[in-house]
Amino acid sequence: METVVSGIRSTGKLHLGNYYGAVQNFIRMQHEYNCFFFIADYHSLTTHPTPANLHDNVKQVLVEYLACGIDPEKATIYVQSDVPEITELYLFLNMNAYKGELERSTSFKDKVRAHPENVNAGLLTYPVLMAADILIHKATKVPVGKDQEQHLEMARTFGNRFNRMYNTEYFAEPYAFSFGKTLVKIPGLDGKGKMGKSEGEANAVYLSDPEEVIRKKVMKAVTDSGPTEENQEKPDYIQNLFDLMKVVSAEDTLNHFEQLYNSCSIRYGDFKKQLAEDMVLATAPVRQKINDIASDSTYLRKVSEMGAEKARESASKTIREVKELIGFRKF
Ligand code: TRP
Repeated sequence: METVVSGIRSTGKLHLGNYYGAVQNFIRMQHEYNCFFFIADYHSLTTHPTPANLHDNVKQVLVEYLACGIDPEKATIYVQSDVPEITELYLFLNMNAYKGELERSTSFKDKVRAHPENVNAGLLTYPVLMAADILIHKATKVPVGKDQEQHLEMARTFGNRFNRMYNTEYFAEPYAFSFGKTLVKIPGLDGKGKMGKSEGEANAVYLSDPEEVIRKKVMKAVTDSGPTEENQEKPDYIQNLFDLMKVVSAEDTLNHFEQLYNSCSIRYGDFKKQLAEDMVLATAPVRQKINDIASDSTYLRKVSEMGAEKARESASKTIREVKELIGFRKF
């Protein structure tokens, strides 16, 4: 059976982008593959969370993974920092990751531009840690959004380089995976681009957002005075709202508003109201479960201990074999 790995950085609550871009694929995959889903708390250190925030954020993601339907009996769910073997592989891979290629990574360049005061080495080697996350379980399938494709390419590069260096075929190549034909891109509400945590609270709809908050956020999304010519091309900020409708609404609803747009009779107020209601409905079952699971600390402890044990079993086997290949041997 093929192995799947994916992680979500614990930098806060899950939003619709995480849900449709990643978690829904996780849920389907857990029935068909050997799955490892983890909470990337080491990765979250690049932005220096306080100890209290770090813990709360890990809990939040764990609760939300479970609320979304990831089944700890089927998939291995673990917290990254419970598996120290990952940092050991990270160290080995760092020796063959070159400064130039790391600096060329799009995500690194974006981060440097956004936060020039915090260009730390952990940020530069983020793709190496991500490669370690994947290679530690020798995974071949990685359900992630489109924005992660370059990171996966780097993971393949690092794995292949290790193989060449030690004249082995130890690491297989990991590829992005989605059940859909294309990797989903969930746009945010600010009209500018993808839904993300770093783009501000109002841009993203969170699974834990109360209904009223969802409605308010959607109603605030930017629109304009409407199309003036039939079948006019949609500006990005309108197309984004249609793209969101495509994931949360029924096909008929989407077609209905497409038609209204194309005949210049769309009323954006009604359109957004419908979008908001469908978002509320689509997230209702998860929202309910989030509240129940969050208060059950016995369950959370059980799940994370079980996950850590299974993940470490797999990870320590890899580290043993990798160390042997590198030349660390007992006397
Ligand atoms: N970089 C991913 C993101 O920002 C999170 C992540 C870290 C990840 N390690 C991973 C995803 C390993 C898949 C596999 O979304």
